[in-house]
This record gives sequence, C-alpha cells and structure tokens, in this order.
Amino acid sequence: MLSEIDRRRTFAIVSHPDAGKTTLTEKLLLYGGALQLAGTVTARKKERATVSDWMELERKRGISVSSTVLNFDYGGYRVNLLDTPGHKDFSEDTYRVLTAVDSVIMVIDGGKGIEGQTRKLFEVCRRRQTPVFTFVNKMDRPALDTLTLLDEIERVLNIRAYPMNLPMGSGVDFRGIFDRRAETACFYERVPGGAYRAPEAVSGGISDPVVREALTPSVYAALCEEAEMVEHAGASFSPEDVLAGRTTPVFFGSAANNFGVQLLLDGFLEFSPPPRPRMSYGGEAKVEVDTASELFSGFVFKIQANMDPKHRDRMAFVRIVSGRFERGMTAVNVRTGKTLRLANSSAIFGRERTTVDEAFAGDVIGVLGVDALRIGDTLCGDGVSGILYNEIPVFPPECFAIIHNPSPANYKRFREGLAQLALEGLVKLYEIPAGHQRISLLGAVGPLQFDLVQYRLESEYGAASRIENTDWTMVRRIEGGAGGGALDEASLHVPMGARLAVDGDGRQVVLFPSEWHRRFFEEHNEGVALE
Ligand code: G4P
Repeated sequence: MLSEIDRRRTFAIVSHPDAGKTTLTEKLLLYGGALQLAGTVTARKKERATVSDWMELERKRGISVSSTVLNFDYGGYRVNLLDTPGHKDFSEDTYRVLTAVDSVIMVIDGGKGIEGQTRKLFEVCRRRQTPVFTFVNKMDRPALDTLTLLDEIERVLNIRAYPMNLPMGSGVDFRGIFDRRAETACFYERVPGGAYRAPEAVSGGISDPVVREALTPSVYAALCEEAEMVEHAGASFSPEDVLAGRTTPVFFGSAANNFGVQLLLDGFLEFSPPPRPRMSYGGEAKVEVDTASELFSGFVFKIQANMDPKHRDRMAFVRIVSGRFERGMTAVNVRTGKTLRLANSSAIFGRERTTVDEAFAGDVIGVLGVDALRIGDTLCGDGVSGILYNEIPVFPPECFAIIHNPSPANYKRFREGLAQLALEGLVKLYEIPAGHQRISLLGAVGPLQFDLVQYRLESEYGAASRIENTDWTMVRRIEGGAGGGALDEASLHVPMGARLAVDGDGRQVVLFPSEWHRRFFEEHNEGVALE
C-alpha cells in the first residue's frame, strides 16, 4: 500500500482562459499513452456542448475527455489529473476541485505574463500551501523578456520563481530551451501537421559551439546573460521550498508544438508531492490523518449529475485521504452517521467509466447511486471514528437573480433541474414567499453561474428559463428562524430594498442590497440575531 500511495500524483492545471490549459492537458495525456491521436474517438463529440474545459477540448479536438478525472501511468507514477472547470469567472467549483489535489501546474501565456484569473487561482493555492509548478507557454510567439517574466511571477504572486530551464529566444527567433540541471540544450523544431512528439536535439553545455551556432548572436548573448544572472542572483534549488509552496519551478515551452512538455512532466513528477495527509477535526483537537493509515477515509468534493446523458444518474466524487478502497466495502457518512455500501464505484476517464475494484489514498473515485451524499461529506471505513474533514469552504453568495419558468407545462422538470443543480453546488437556491406563489431565487459568487444554470436546465432537463437580476448582494440567516418558528414580515422591521426568503435547508434568511441595510436591520430588530 505504501508504494502504491507514494507513486500517486494528484494535480490540476490552472490558467487564465486561453493561456493553453486545454492544449497542455491534451499533450500530457498523449505522454501517458492515455490518448491516441486526436480524431480517433470522435463518435461522442456531438452529444453535448461544452460545460467544462475538457468538453471544450472534446469539441475542438474530437476526443473524449469530458469530465472530472483523468488518470494514467507514466514513468512508474500513477497520475491523476483533475479538471478545474473553466469559466471566465472564478467559481466555487474550481475551488472545490483544488481542495482535492496535492499540487498544481499553472500555465502562463509567455506573451502576456500573469493575468487576472491566474492571480486569483494562485491565491487559492497559496492559502492552502499547495505546491505550484509554472509552465510558461507559447514561446513560439513573441514573449516577454525572460527575466521580466520571472520577476513578474515573484512580484505579483509573491513566490520565489526558480527557472528549471531557460528559453532560447522566442517568436520567430525561438530555438528551444536550455535545461539548467542537465546542462543540455533542447532544440526546437517546427513540426508540420502538429505531430505529438516534437523531436528534441540535445547537445552539451551553454558554451558548446553547437548551441552558439544554432542561435542568432543576440539570442545567444541574451541566453548567456540570463543564465549567469539567474545563477548568481537566485538561491539554489530547494525541493523543500517547492513542497512548502515557497518556490515555484518554472518551465518554458510551447504546448501546441509539444515542446518542453516532457521536461515539464518529468520535472513535475520528480518534485511534486505524493498524497499529503489532511487534518481531521472530528475529535477534541485537530489531528493529521496519515495517508498510509490502514483506515479508509475520504471526502466528497464534487457532485455531478447527468454526465452521461444516457443514464440520468448522479455521481459523487470522493478524494481518498487515507487507506485503501475496495469495491463493495461499507463506509460511514460522518454527517449523517449512516452506513453505505460503496458498490457502484467508478474510475472515470472522460465520460468512460470503468468499475474500480481498488483505489488508494490520492485517488479519486466516483460513487454512483448514493443520493444522500453532499459536497463536503466525510466518508470513513466502518469502525473508524472521530474523523471529520473540513476541506470544502463555503462561499457566501454575492449575486442574486430570480429565475422564472416561462412554461407552466415544464414546471416539474424546471423544479427537478434546479434542485439538482443546487445539490451540485452550482448555485444556492432560495425561495421568496409572495402570496400563494413562491419565487425561486439563485445565489452565486459570480453571475456567470446563472448562465450555466440556464444552459444546463435547458440542455439536461429541457426546461427554458428567464433570469431577472436583482440588487441584493448579501444574505444572512435569521438565527432560530427555522420552519415553524419563522418570523413574519409584519413583526420585523425590514428596510426598503431588503427581503425575507427561505434557504435550501428551509431556514429563514434576509437578503440585503448593502451593508448599510444589514446594519439597519440589526439595529431595528432587537433580539433577532443574524448569522
Ligand atoms: P485554455 O484551455 O487555457 O483556454 O487555452 P487553449 O488550450 O484552448 O489554447 C488557447 C489558444 O492558444 C488555442 O488557439 C491554442 O491552439 C493556442 N495555443 C496553445 N498553446 C500554444 C502554443 O504553445 N503556441 C501557440 N502559438 N498557440 C498556442 P485557438 O485559436 O483558440 O484554438 P485552435 O483552433 O488553435 O485549437
């Protein structure tokens, strides 16, 4: 078990849209032999439009890699690559996936440097002390100066950037990369037709005449200068600093040309951590749960329905934190105290599912047919007690929109779809009492989630909808205002613009347009506490 856990690398790729995450994912899969050449698995591409980046990849490339977890073996490692759903907005879903990984590869467009989304995603990694590896992509296009790029990573992200290799020019002058550790130059060759393994010619050190002759004098001079600068200015490479999230190893290359990808993959696998222990908050004090513990434990970080349009089912994704999973084993859902049998468990490759009989700490398994599971739930092997993971943060919604069902005939599908999407954590669902009617209200961190809800309602449930934006920006629960004990509007002093509603757990909440309204409410409703 120890060696199985030790060879696992569970990670995600993050980037600002368009920096090349999808392209890099595709290339990595080719190295793992997990994908054949694009175009061989095209049958499914029309089934559904894009919801995640991998579906985008599927759409663009005609390959079947549409969801959540991809795993493959490479160089003795078991690689688990998790999809971080890419919307233009930062989403909770992305955050939740990042709780399930042990490290991250951050893709940067060499011509653009650090962009908004990269910064936000990086912040999440830093807070969790997740080791980050950087891939500076698109070096075949004009790129920012190497030292400027490294400096920007250090300054903007406040992390030490250690170049594992240096680019030899960029754009039309791009000649390849110089691998600092191996002291070899890897020459770039443009490969027509997008072949997957760009040949890499390798030679001696930087002063090797072959290197000098291959580069233009200015590119060669810049390389020598940069090599000297980073050698003298930077501290030596420390794998411990990488593991602690203090240093990011930086690799340069061009994903589209499959150049530098293998060096990235090899370096990543060498220095990224195996599954890391997690904290449990089950007992009196928090304790670290050892990955190699005999006891199976894990947590649900994602729920997704209708992944396969042919089967209307719901899959809960469990990141195994400790021990060994065996199909058919029983586990306890710590939140409910109920025992469940993990009989229908899958390993997922894109939309393909294969039954998984055995899995280890670091792996992600998909559990089907257990409707009682919720995002954040801790699962423990039978007989284990006192373990409770608290990995999934809750983000208070900041945008609210009323969702209308324009077609009464579709009422059932509309309700069913909304309930399911709320369960997946895509949005929070509230109801505003209005006479005999109940108005459905969506809450999310970013407004793009509403588009996604509409899109999925339509495509998966056949229910059209209409969105009406509102001015509310925060929601607070009324303490003790649950179910029967609900306070009515008449007995409360609700400021103009604020509104009472009920949340998904049936508890009374107030919606406020601003902090001022919240304070007004508290000041004028003595004895009513907000959470
Ligand atoms: P994303 O998932 O981060 O959003 O980025 P994606 O991989 O979709 O890449 C965005 C665009 O950048 C794509 O072009 C892709 O081909 C291109 N690209 C990726 N890596 C490189 C690279 O190393 N060099 C260059 N020159 N371009 C690169 P597109 O026109 O949007 O799509 P496509 O039709 O080329 O697939």
